[in-house]
Amino acid sequence: MKYQFSQAPVDVSPVSTKYRKIKTAIPAPETLKILLDLEKYESRSMHGQLPVVWYRTENFQVYDVCGNCWIDFTSTIFVANAGHANPQITSALQKTIDHKLLHTYTFAHEMRVLFLKKLIEITPDQFEKAFLLSAGTEATECAVKLMRMHGQTINPAKLSIISFQGAMHGRTMGAEMLKGDPSQSAWIGYRDPNMYHLPFPYPWAAKDASNKKYNWTKHFEEDMHALKAKGLNFDNIAGFMIESYLGWGAIFYPVAYIKALVDFAKEYDCLVTFDEIQGGFGRSGKLFVYQHYDVEPDLLCLGKSLSGSLPLSAVIGSAEIMDLPEFGSMSSTHSANPLCCSAGLANLEAIETGNLVEESARKGEILHNRINALKKKYSDRISYIFCKGLLAGIIFKSPATGKPDGFFASQVCEKAMQKGLLLVHTGRESIKIGPPLTIPDGALEEGLDVFDEALAETIQDTK
Ligand SMILES: Cc1ncc(COP(=O)(O)O)c(C=O)c1O
Repeated sequence: MKYQFSQAPVDVSPVSTKYRKIKTAIPAPETLKILLDLEKYESRSMHGQLPVVWYRTENFQVYDVCGNCWIDFTSTIFVANAGHANPQITSALQKTIDHKLLHTYTFAHEMRVLFLKKLIEITPDQFEKAFLLSAGTEATECAVKLMRMHGQTINPAKLSIISFQGAMHGRTMGAEMLKGDPSQSAWIGYRDPNMYHLPFPYPWAAKDASNKKYNWTKHFEEDMHALKAKGLNFDNIAGFMIESYLGWGAIFYPVAYIKALVDFAKEYDCLVTFDEIQGGFGRSGKLFVYQHYDVEPDLLCLGKSLSGSLPLSAVIGSAEIMDLPEFGSMSSTHSANPLCCSAGLANLEAIETGNLVEESARKGEILHNRINALKKKYSDRISYIFCKGLLAGIIFKSPATGKPDGFFASQVCEKAMQKGLLLVHTGRESIKIGPPLTIPDGALEEGLDVFDEALAETIQDTK
């Protein structure tokens, strides 16, 4: 059973602190019309979110029209790494608007080259060229195209793409096929015979993963042989698509597993793409999540925090791979438009000048200590925690059965919202925490206190 957030205003205790304010029933009665109109005019697939109607944002805070103010632990999953309405980004956008250059299609403009140059400069050396798009889902599909085109330069049948069951790569047809989740791709009506899915190496999938000596290399090899038994020819693998951590729970791969995968890719001459759309640009305490695995990928898919605001995504790689498609055969109407590029450039500058990658690692220590303490305090409710940088995933279970408890996770999110804290509601048995990397330490600590209170009260309410 899915939990439904109350659309009827609930009387809650007022809150007034340095960082939060709740002074109406929640959802605020004045905002109900917007929620109801959305239900009326917009397809329901967009709905199910916590009923907070955003009016204004600033750094780590979200305001509604009534003056209620939430600490934001979502960064709009995870776009606003450099802070909501970052002044460097808003002023760059303002300048571009005042300059009266909103769109150029594929005609050249200076902002495009300034942004591309900055992107290539701040990313590791193997990334020499980029292709800009609007949505993350376009970037992952583009990476599939590039991996297959590259494979075909070696052998015309080298087309197979290996991805992970349950990973998120977007919602267009190819991206849905990458996920290997039948509930999300049944509508397609067929499966791409050259797409194969590895089971995600969950800590609990291993028979003895608590054993530090557990052999993740062997685990990877066995899973690859299981795909071979289903018809996969290793010589025909074009590439691997790896969500840099499993999105729904912020679950990281074992390092040895990814190293084995990359070694295998080298042996069989196939490419490795990391989808860093969610994890990129400092979220994990490093510029990119793949750097925690100590490997060198061929392609990266970027999005979300690439611009910190407007729709902008990218695929980056070596010139050799990026130049495989012919002139004009990889383009999009809104690719690289001046507004997105100016937001992107200001965002990358803000990440650099604010030392936000280092700040994420430093504040991550605060976050991890607190989440570890919560795991001990609520050991019958929290089954796993995953933390890197300013990112945490908390997985909940039922104390009675030990089984995943998504209902409880939703109730905690609702309780936290009523207290002035926005958490990432995944719709599953997990909650994710990922504030803007610019959040002050005091606000981070206060938000974590509220999370603790919301957990305690939800446990009490559900007894
Ligand atoms: C890892 C990952 N890849 C791809 C996407 C798709 O991005 P978009 O929603 O911009 O198409 C998402 C979106 O949540 C994501 O988290």
